[in-house]
Amino acid sequence: MKIFRSKKTLHDYVERQKEMGKKIGFAPTMGALHRGHISLYEAAAKENDLVFSSIFVNPTQFNNAGDLEKYPRNIENDLKMLEESAFVDAVYIPEVSDLYPDGLKSKTYDFEGLENEMEGKFRPGHFDGVGTVVEELLRQVKPDNAYFGEKDFQQLAIIKKLVQKLQLPVKIHGVKIYREENGLAMSSRNERLSPDQRKAAKVIHETLLKVNDWFRVLTLPEINLRVKDIFEDQRGMVLEYFQIADENTLKETDFFYRGHDYRAFIVVFVNDVRLIDNIHLD
Ligand code: PAF
Repeated sequence: MKIFRSKKTLHDYVERQKEMGKKIGFAPTMGALHRGHISLYEAAAKENDLVFSSIFVNPTQFNNAGDLEKYPRNIENDLKMLEESAFVDAVYIPEVSDLYPDGLKSKTYDFEGLENEMEGKFRPGHFDGVGTVVEELLRQVKPDNAYFGEKDFQQLAIIKKLVQKLQLPVKIHGVKIYREENGLAMSSRNERLSPDQRKAAKVIHETLLKVNDWFRVLTLPEINLRVKDIFEDQRGMVLEYFQIADENTLKETDFFYRGHDYRAFIVVFVNDVRLIDNIHLD
Protein backbone atom coordinates (compact mmCIF):
# COMPACT_ATOMS: atom_id res chain seq x y z
CA MET A 1 0.00 0.00 0.00
CA LYS A 2 1.35 3.40 -0.98
CA ILE A 3 1.39 6.20 1.57
CA PHE A 4 1.31 9.84 0.41
CA ARG A 5 2.09 12.50 2.98
CA SER A 6 1.99 15.52 0.69
CA LYS A 7 -0.26 16.96 -1.99
CA LYS A 8 2.60 17.03 -4.50
CA THR A 9 3.49 13.32 -4.31
CA LEU A 10 -0.20 12.40 -4.38
CA HIS A 11 -0.75 14.62 -7.42
CA ASP A 12 2.05 13.02 -9.46
CA TYR A 13 0.83 9.52 -8.68
CA VAL A 14 -2.85 10.31 -9.41
CA GLU A 15 -1.93 11.92 -12.74
CA ARG A 16 0.05 8.81 -13.79
CA GLN A 17 -2.83 6.51 -12.89
CA LYS A 18 -5.32 8.70 -14.77
CA GLU A 19 -3.10 8.66 -17.86
CA MET A 20 -3.14 4.86 -17.71
CA GLY A 21 -6.95 4.97 -17.63
CA LYS A 22 -7.26 3.58 -14.08
CA LYS A 23 -10.58 4.03 -12.34
CA ILE A 24 -10.15 5.40 -8.80
CA GLY A 25 -12.45 4.70 -5.85
CA PHE A 26 -12.05 6.80 -2.70
CA ALA A 27 -13.35 6.97 0.86
CA PRO A 28 -12.00 9.77 3.08
CA THR A 29 -11.81 9.22 6.84
CA MET A 30 -10.78 10.93 10.02
CA GLY A 31 -8.91 7.81 11.14
CA ALA A 32 -9.67 5.66 14.20
CA LEU A 33 -10.65 3.11 11.60
CA HIS A 34 -13.02 0.24 12.24
CA ARG A 35 -14.80 -2.47 10.27
CA GLY A 36 -17.37 0.08 9.04
CA HIS A 37 -14.63 1.96 7.16
CA ILE A 38 -13.34 -1.27 5.69
CA SER A 39 -16.82 -1.96 4.30
CA LEU A 40 -16.47 1.28 2.29
CA TYR A 41 -13.22 0.02 0.78
CA GLU A 42 -14.75 -3.37 0.11
CA ALA A 43 -17.51 -1.64 -1.89
CA ALA A 44 -14.93 0.53 -3.68
CA ALA A 45 -12.72 -2.44 -4.59
CA LYS A 46 -15.63 -4.07 -6.46
CA GLU A 47 -16.06 -1.13 -8.83
CA ASN A 48 -12.63 0.44 -9.30
CA ASP A 49 -9.08 -0.40 -10.38
CA LEU A 50 -7.49 1.47 -7.48
CA VAL A 51 -8.82 2.24 -4.02
CA PHE A 52 -7.69 5.31 -2.07
CA SER A 53 -8.16 6.13 1.58
CA SER A 54 -7.35 9.37 3.35
CA ILE A 55 -6.82 10.09 7.02
CA PHE A 56 -7.26 13.64 8.26
CA VAL A 57 -8.96 14.84 11.44
CA ASN A 58 -10.60 17.93 10.04
CA PRO A 59 -10.66 20.72 12.65
CA THR A 60 -13.16 22.93 10.80
CA GLN A 61 -16.01 20.42 11.13
CA PHE A 62 -15.81 20.30 14.94
CA ASN A 63 -17.96 22.95 16.53
CA ASN A 64 -16.71 21.95 19.96
CA ALA A 65 -13.00 22.18 20.83
CA GLY A 66 -13.32 19.44 23.48
CA ASP A 67 -14.79 17.03 20.93
CA LEU A 68 -11.89 17.70 18.53
CA GLU A 69 -9.35 17.17 21.28
CA LYS A 70 -10.97 13.90 22.43
CA TYR A 71 -11.37 12.52 18.90
CA PRO A 72 -9.48 9.18 18.90
CA ARG A 73 -6.25 9.17 16.88
CA ASN A 74 -4.13 6.11 16.20
CA ILE A 75 -2.40 6.37 12.86
CA GLU A 76 -0.19 3.28 13.27
CA ASN A 77 -3.22 1.14 14.00
CA ASP A 78 -5.09 2.71 11.07
CA LEU A 79 -2.28 1.94 8.63
CA LYS A 80 -2.06 -1.63 9.90
CA MET A 81 -5.79 -2.09 9.44
CA LEU A 82 -5.75 -0.69 5.88
CA GLU A 83 -2.75 -2.83 4.99
CA GLU A 84 -4.39 -5.98 6.35
CA SER A 85 -7.73 -5.32 4.66
CA ALA A 86 -6.23 -5.86 1.19
CA PHE A 87 -8.84 -3.56 -0.39
CA VAL A 88 -6.80 -0.35 -0.23
CA ASP A 89 -4.00 0.53 -2.65
CA ALA A 90 -3.04 3.96 -1.39
CA VAL A 91 -3.62 6.27 1.55
CA TYR A 92 -3.28 10.05 1.63
CA ILE A 93 -2.30 11.59 4.98
CA PRO A 94 -2.18 15.30 4.21
CA GLU A 95 -0.80 18.15 6.30
CA VAL A 96 -3.17 20.97 7.25
CA SER A 97 -1.42 23.19 4.68
CA ASP A 98 -2.13 20.67 1.88
CA LEU A 99 -5.88 21.08 2.40
CA TYR A 100 -6.02 24.61 3.84
CA PRO A 101 -3.26 26.62 2.09
CA ASP A 102 -4.86 29.89 3.23
CA GLY A 103 -5.36 28.90 6.85
CA LEU A 104 -7.82 26.78 8.75
CA LYS A 105 -11.18 28.21 7.78
CA SER A 106 -14.28 26.83 6.08
CA LYS A 107 -15.88 28.01 2.89
CA THR A 108 -19.57 28.85 3.08
CA TYR A 109 -21.94 26.66 1.09
CA ASP A 110 -25.58 26.71 0.17
CA PHE A 111 -26.79 23.11 0.32
CA GLU A 112 -30.35 24.22 -0.45
CA GLY A 113 -31.55 23.86 3.11
CA LEU A 114 -30.19 20.36 3.81
CA GLU A 115 -27.58 21.96 6.07
CA ASN A 116 -30.21 23.54 8.32
CA GLU A 117 -31.91 20.32 9.41
CA MET A 118 -30.98 18.01 12.30
CA GLU A 119 -27.16 18.06 12.72
CA GLY A 120 -27.15 21.57 11.25
CA LYS A 121 -29.23 22.80 14.20
CA PHE A 122 -27.05 21.14 16.82
CA ARG A 123 -23.63 21.57 15.20
CA PRO A 124 -23.47 25.06 13.64
CA GLY A 125 -20.82 25.32 10.92
CA HIS A 126 -20.28 21.56 10.83
CA PHE A 127 -21.38 21.04 7.23
CA ASP A 128 -19.37 23.99 5.92
CA GLY A 129 -16.33 22.28 7.47
CA VAL A 130 -17.24 18.92 5.94
CA GLY A 131 -17.97 20.53 2.56
CA THR A 132 -14.63 22.38 2.56
CA VAL A 133 -12.49 19.36 3.31
CA VAL A 134 -14.43 16.93 1.09
CA GLU A 135 -14.38 19.35 -1.86
CA GLU A 136 -10.60 19.75 -1.54
CA LEU A 137 -9.99 16.01 -1.11
CA LEU A 138 -12.13 15.20 -4.15
CA ARG A 139 -10.24 17.79 -6.21
CA GLN A 140 -6.89 16.33 -5.16
CA VAL A 141 -7.60 12.58 -5.27
CA LYS A 142 -9.78 12.93 -8.41
CA PRO A 143 -11.76 9.73 -7.84
CA ASP A 144 -14.30 8.37 -10.29
CA ASN A 145 -16.34 7.03 -7.38
CA ALA A 146 -16.43 8.10 -3.72
CA TYR A 147 -18.00 6.16 -0.86
CA PHE A 148 -19.59 7.45 2.35
CA GLY A 149 -21.38 5.59 5.13
CA GLU A 150 -25.12 5.92 5.59
CA LYS A 151 -24.60 6.34 9.34
CA ASP A 152 -23.99 10.02 8.55
CA PHE A 153 -26.95 10.11 6.20
CA GLN A 154 -27.26 13.90 6.26
CA GLN A 155 -23.56 14.24 5.43
CA LEU A 156 -24.05 11.83 2.51
CA ALA A 157 -26.98 13.92 1.18
CA ILE A 158 -24.95 17.10 1.54
CA ILE A 159 -21.94 15.64 -0.27
CA LYS A 160 -24.21 14.54 -3.14
CA LYS A 161 -25.53 18.12 -3.27
CA LEU A 162 -21.98 19.55 -3.16
CA VAL A 163 -20.87 17.40 -6.07
CA GLN A 164 -23.98 18.24 -8.06
CA LYS A 165 -23.69 22.01 -7.47
CA LEU A 166 -19.94 22.17 -8.20
CA GLN A 167 -20.30 19.66 -11.05
CA LEU A 168 -17.40 17.58 -9.77
CA PRO A 169 -16.79 14.55 -12.02
CA VAL A 170 -17.33 11.90 -9.35
CA LYS A 171 -20.18 9.56 -8.46
CA ILE A 172 -21.11 9.47 -4.77
CA HIS A 173 -22.18 6.13 -3.28
CA GLY A 174 -23.86 5.50 0.08
CA VAL A 175 -22.83 2.34 1.92
CA LYS A 176 -25.10 0.60 4.43
CA ILE A 177 -24.41 1.07 8.14
CA TYR A 178 -22.03 -1.53 9.51
CA ARG A 179 -23.10 -2.64 12.97
CA GLU A 180 -21.48 -4.29 15.95
CA GLU A 181 -22.90 -7.68 16.89
CA ASN A 182 -25.41 -6.11 19.29
CA GLY A 183 -26.64 -3.69 16.60
CA LEU A 184 -24.75 -0.58 17.72
CA ALA A 185 -23.69 1.39 14.63
CA MET A 186 -19.90 1.22 14.23
CA SER A 187 -18.26 4.52 14.96
CA SER A 188 -14.82 5.77 15.90
CA ARG A 189 -16.51 7.30 18.95
CA ASN A 190 -17.49 3.82 20.25
CA GLU A 191 -13.86 3.49 21.38
CA ARG A 192 -14.61 6.03 24.08
CA LEU A 193 -17.38 3.88 25.61
CA SER A 194 -16.72 1.53 28.52
CA PRO A 195 -17.64 -2.13 27.88
CA ASP A 196 -20.87 -1.64 29.89
CA GLN A 197 -21.79 1.53 28.01
CA ARG A 198 -21.12 -0.25 24.73
CA LYS A 199 -23.52 -3.00 25.75
CA ALA A 200 -26.17 -0.57 26.95
CA ALA A 201 -25.92 1.55 23.78
CA LYS A 202 -27.57 -1.25 21.80
CA VAL A 203 -30.85 0.32 22.92
CA ILE A 204 -30.31 2.98 20.22
CA HIS A 205 -30.61 0.54 17.34
CA GLU A 206 -33.26 -1.50 19.16
CA THR A 207 -35.35 1.66 19.43
CA LEU A 208 -35.00 2.36 15.72
CA LEU A 209 -36.16 -1.20 14.95
CA LYS A 210 -39.20 -0.60 17.16
CA VAL A 211 -39.89 2.67 15.35
CA ASN A 212 -39.89 0.73 12.09
CA ASP A 213 -42.56 -1.59 13.56
CA TRP A 214 -44.61 1.34 14.90
CA PHE A 215 -44.32 3.29 11.65
CA ARG A 216 -47.47 1.80 10.07
CA VAL A 217 -49.59 1.49 13.21
CA LEU A 218 -48.97 4.52 15.43
CA THR A 219 -49.24 8.25 14.81
CA LEU A 220 -46.14 10.42 14.72
CA PRO A 221 -46.77 12.03 18.15
CA GLU A 222 -47.24 8.54 19.65
CA ILE A 223 -43.94 7.34 18.16
CA ASN A 224 -42.09 10.45 19.35
CA LEU A 225 -43.46 10.00 22.86
CA ARG A 226 -42.51 6.33 23.05
CA VAL A 227 -38.95 7.07 21.96
CA LYS A 228 -38.67 9.83 24.56
CA ASP A 229 -39.98 7.45 27.24
CA ILE A 230 -37.41 4.76 26.33
CA PHE A 231 -34.50 7.15 26.86
CA GLU A 232 -35.91 8.67 30.03
CA ASP A 233 -35.46 5.21 31.54
CA GLN A 234 -31.82 4.77 30.41
CA ARG A 235 -29.24 5.65 33.06
CA GLY A 236 -26.36 7.79 31.73
CA MET A 237 -28.04 8.42 28.37
CA VAL A 238 -29.61 11.62 27.07
CA LEU A 239 -31.65 11.77 23.89
CA GLU A 240 -30.48 14.83 21.96
CA TYR A 241 -33.00 14.44 19.17
CA PHE A 242 -35.21 11.92 17.45
CA GLN A 243 -36.87 12.81 14.20
CA ILE A 244 -38.66 11.12 11.34
CA ALA A 245 -37.81 12.96 8.15
CA ASP A 246 -38.47 12.78 4.45
CA GLU A 247 -35.42 11.02 3.00
CA ASN A 248 -35.05 13.53 0.18
CA THR A 249 -35.57 16.88 1.91
CA LEU A 250 -34.47 15.72 5.40
CA LYS A 251 -37.30 17.87 6.77
CA GLU A 252 -39.17 16.53 9.77
CA THR A 253 -42.49 15.19 8.58
CA ASP A 254 -45.84 15.99 10.16
CA PHE A 255 -47.60 13.15 8.37
CA PHE A 256 -46.76 10.06 6.31
CA TYR A 257 -47.51 10.91 2.68
CA ARG A 258 -47.94 8.17 0.09
CA GLY A 259 -45.01 7.80 -2.32
CA HIS A 260 -42.45 9.43 0.01
CA ASP A 261 -39.50 7.67 1.63
CA TYR A 262 -38.98 8.21 5.33
CA ARG A 263 -36.05 7.68 7.65
CA ALA A 264 -35.82 7.91 11.43
CA PHE A 265 -32.80 9.77 12.83
CA ILE A 266 -31.53 9.67 16.38
CA VAL A 267 -28.72 11.20 18.42
CA VAL A 268 -28.00 10.03 21.95
CA PHE A 269 -25.34 11.06 24.42
CA VAL A 270 -23.91 8.16 26.39
CA ASN A 271 -22.26 10.21 29.10
CA ASP A 272 -20.27 12.67 26.96
CA VAL A 273 -20.03 10.46 23.86
CA ARG A 274 -22.38 11.58 21.10
CA LEU A 275 -23.76 8.64 19.09
CA ILE A 276 -25.74 8.96 15.89
CA ASP A 277 -27.85 6.40 14.03
CA ASN A 278 -30.71 6.15 11.55
CA ILE A 279 -32.95 3.64 9.81
CA HIS A 280 -34.90 3.60 6.58
CA LEU A 281 -38.57 2.98 7.40
CA ASP A 282 -40.34 0.34 5.37
O1 PAF B 1 -17.34 11.11 7.89
C1 PAF B 1 -16.18 11.48 8.16
O2 PAF B 1 -15.36 10.74 8.68
C2 PAF B 1 -15.79 12.92 7.86
O3 PAF B 1 -16.86 13.78 8.04
C3 PAF B 1 -15.17 13.10 6.46
C4 PAF B 1 -16.16 12.77 5.37
C5 PAF B 1 -13.94 12.21 6.32
C6 PAF B 1 -14.73 14.55 6.27
O4 PAF B 1 -13.79 14.94 7.22
